[in-house]
Amino acid sequence: MTRLNGKTAVITGGATGIGLAAAKRFVEEGAFVFIYGRRQEALDAAVSELGPNARAVKGSVSDEADLDRLYAAVKAERGTLDIVFANAGAGGPLKLGKITAKHIDETFDTNVKGTIFTVQKALPLMASGGSIILTGSSAGTTGASGFTAYSASKAAVRNLVRTWAEDLKGTGIRVNVLSPGATATELAKEALGEEGQKAYGAMTPLQRMADPAEIGAVAAFLASDDSSFMTASEVAVDGGLAQL
Ligand SMILES: NC(=O)c1ccc[n+]([C@@H]2O[C@H](COP(=O)([O-])OP(=O)(O)OC[C@H]3O[C@@H](n4cnc5c(N)ncnc54)[C@H](OP(=O)(O)O)[C@@H]3O)[C@@H](O)[C@H]2O)c1
Repeated sequence: MTRLNGKTAVITGGATGIGLAAAKRFVEEGAFVFIYGRRQEALDAAVSELGPNARAVKGSVSDEADLDRLYAAVKAERGTLDIVFANAGAGGPLKLGKITAKHIDETFDTNVKGTIFTVQKALPLMASGGSIILTGSSAGTTGASGFTAYSASKAAVRNLVRTWAEDLKGTGIRVNVLSPGATATELAKEALGEEGQKAYGAMTPLQRMADPAEIGAVAAFLASDDSSFMTASEVAVDGGLAQL
């Protein structure tokens, strides 16, 4: 497919997991992709896998100066930007009773503040036809035992696109949230452990976790003109987990 021919995309958290799967799909469909994250080694490995139509910029979504460097790199090489996949996210479990201010700050800094500035700082490079995709989570709808800060941060991410669709009226830029269920990535392994992953697979109506490529395929749909009448939507890619 060549749905993304000639388009330029930024994918935060693009070196691993869902972000990397989306980057592969975007490149396959014709896009030029900038991936962004904090670990140089992971970025280098991903770029060598993605090939000549990928670049990496190292930085944190929680750091505004880092994001400025990202968009300066996009502007210098490509001039404009068509797609932003604000996908970087993090957050482990801490049961109610054990929650700390540091845990809340770290989770919200990445998932909420990081998502807001990733998008806000991209806008000067975007024009009509642009597509912004945020990564939410089934946990933003259902809650998830022990994941107070993470689930609340993802509920906030879902809400961002409602306000932004209104704020972006008249620009021709669309904004949607893609909400995965349990997906086989490092984050799921670390946050849930082996037993937790099995439990989430079993809880899911499709009886398994997602492969990251299944999330990347929907990100490509939302990035492309095939979703041209969609904005402010939440697209659940969760095997039914949060839908029953
Ligand atoms: N896997 C699941 O079951 C699941 C379910 C629902 C939603 N999600 C969401 O999907 C998204 C991707 O996660 P994943 O499952 O693919 O796990 P992952 O492989 O751990 O990906 C997370 C990515 O985010 C990057 N990242 C984290 N903090 C960052 C920061 N401050 N600045 C820049 N990059 C940062 C990480 O890179 P560095 O560490 O190198 O910075 C990493 O590449 C997240 O938003 C997650 O909440 C995942």
